Amino acid sequence: MTRAWSEVEFAQKVIAYYHQSGRKDLPWQNTQDPYRIWLSEIMLQQTQVKTVIPYYQKFLQAFPSVLDLANAEQDQVLHLWSGLGYYSRARNLHKAAKMIRDEFAGQFPENQAELESLPGIGRSTAGAIAAFAFNKPSAILDGNVKRVLARCFAIEGWYGQTTVLNQLWELSEKLTPNQETAGYNQAMMDLGALVCKRSKPLCQECPLTAHCLAFQQDRVSELPHKKPKKARPAKSVYWLIYLDKQRILLQKRPPSGIWGGLWSLPEVERTEAVKQNYSSARRLPEILHKFSHYDLHITPLLMNKTIEKTMQQEPNMSIMEADSSDWYSLTEPLEELAIGLPTPVTNLLKQLKQTLE
Ligand code: ADE
Repeated sequence: MTRAWSEVEFAQKVIAYYHQSGRKDLPWQNTQDPYRIWLSEIMLQQTQVKTVIPYYQKFLQAFPSVLDLANAEQDQVLHLWSGLGYYSRARNLHKAAKMIRDEFAGQFPENQAELESLPGIGRSTAGAIAAFAFNKPSAILDGNVKRVLARCFAIEGWYGQTTVLNQLWELSEKLTPNQETAGYNQAMMDLGALVCKRSKPLCQECPLTAHCLAFQQDRVSELPHKKPKKARPAKSVYWLIYLDKQRILLQKRPPSGIWGGLWSLPEVERTEAVKQNYSSARRLPEILHKFSHYDLHITPLLMNKTIEKTMQQEPNMSIMEADSSDWYSLTEPLEELAIGLPTPVTNLLKQLKQTLE
């Protein structure tokens, strides 16, 4: 593609920023290993660099190569993801590693279409892997890049809308240079994360103000347009605490959906009808867990019945299949449970351990 002068200039300014101020020593940089780059890109989706770094390092220690990951147990993979959230990322990572082992003869695919055929790899992640690992001139459009472009080009509308997203992709494709693509892409992410921040952007440090329509029109705080606000839905559940000889009953959640494949407490929805069945159990303080799309209100209940008794009374507690529930000793250190645990479960177990001490 031939590029107009202003596009060339835009890329030059971004690349100059990369040389001057871009991040060059993050743990997933200075490598062309597609496995490491892929892992970092997946962990960095919706998650900040400083949160990701310790997870990234532990994960690589446990699974140094894509084959190690493919051959791992899902419980172990989810264990190493516990606390990072958005667990479908971990499940897809594991699935994709198995596909690379079985369908790509253990070799990471290099082209955009093959990369996008792997679960969890969308257009932008495929572009990042192709650029960082394989020196391809591919464009990216993650949350940071979207914000930089939406401001620079005063793109109207929320980018959950297809038309807005298409405009941004068109811009990203047009501006991405064929040379030094990796540096350009890294700099665009860095600009979004460090300078063109959602709130209190540091426009005085930005190399693009001469191009930036939002800056020139004094609309930086208005753009990009936010998602239209809807009431957040809420759901209420009971978590049933069964204790027996300092052991607690945990249960593996179904393979997909919220916290899919992680271990939690037996859960029942808190409807009016169900409330009465549990009126004699001791309630612990409610836990509020905020997902990106709804609030979960959890009331833990200390059960004074046996699990068998509860199951007789709650025929729809189909949840207790043999291989999906297990007793865990509260005297065992939590880190030694090689299973995935949602953050509120980890916190609750810690609390219960303390009461035993
Ligand atoms: N966010 C997504 N990818 C990133 C990267 N390579 N470096 C820093 N932040 C990122």
